[in-house]
Amino acid sequence: MAKRALRIAATADLHYGKHSRGTLHEAFAEISSSADILLLCGDLTDYGLPEEAEALIADIRSAVKIPMLAVLGNHDFESGKPELVGKVLDDAGINVLDGEAIEIAGVGFAGVAGFGGGFGRRMLNAWGEPLIKQFVQESISHAVRLEQALAKLQTEQRIVVLHYSPIRATLEGEDPEIFAFLGSSRLEEPINRFRVNAVFHGHAHNGILEGKTSTGIPVYNVSAPALRKTGKPYRIVEV
Ligand SMILES: [Fe+2]
Ligand SMILES: [Fe+2]
Repeated sequence: MAKRALRIAATADLHYGKHSRGTLHEAFAEISSSADILLLCGDLTDYGLPEEAEALIADIRSAVKIPMLAVLGNHDFESGKPELVGKVLDDAGINVLDGEAIEIAGVGFAGVAGFGGGFGRRMLNAWGEPLIKQFVQESISHAVRLEQALAKLQTEQRIVVLHYSPIRATLEGEDPEIFAFLGSSRLEEPINRFRVNAVFHGHAHNGILEGKTSTGIPVYNVSAPALRKTGKPYRIVEV
């Protein structure tokens, strides 16, 4: 029997402030009636304040009736309270993935925020000053946690949820000077190895909407500012 496709709605970089309440309520209601699951790919708040997450949750709670998964973005760390932001989301029934995996409707989801470091042969290596090594170590740690999450999934289909990009292609349109801070090829390796079906990321506000890993896995940049040209602050992909 043919399995029904899962409609995945995804968005990122909502950057909710204390006074943003109401801005995306309509979009969330649309998502809830046209998709089976909603992925929130980080930068959900502007300054990483729990009050900002509360404003977002007020819009989500009254509109979204489908399962939700999230990863945090760099903005959600800005005030040094990522666990409080995560708790607000968690209390509203949103599963915040930080190197974890979860199965929903027979499809596996692995999520981690990711980190910078650059791409391909120009990727930053752990060499020289301790601070550079620490930066690279953070990047490696996210890739390892993604790998561990993927290894736990027994499902036929696997989806990866990130804030940072695993490929350079979806960053096209951003200033090349900041590419190395928008993602890292280290994230691409486990995605290819575990033959993931699709990858969703945010963070690249000025990037392009689609790319592929070196083995042809589709990568979707669902940053709401980048999606603006489509007329909707989210994207729905069927798997
Ligand atoms: Fe952002
Ligand atoms: Fe970001």
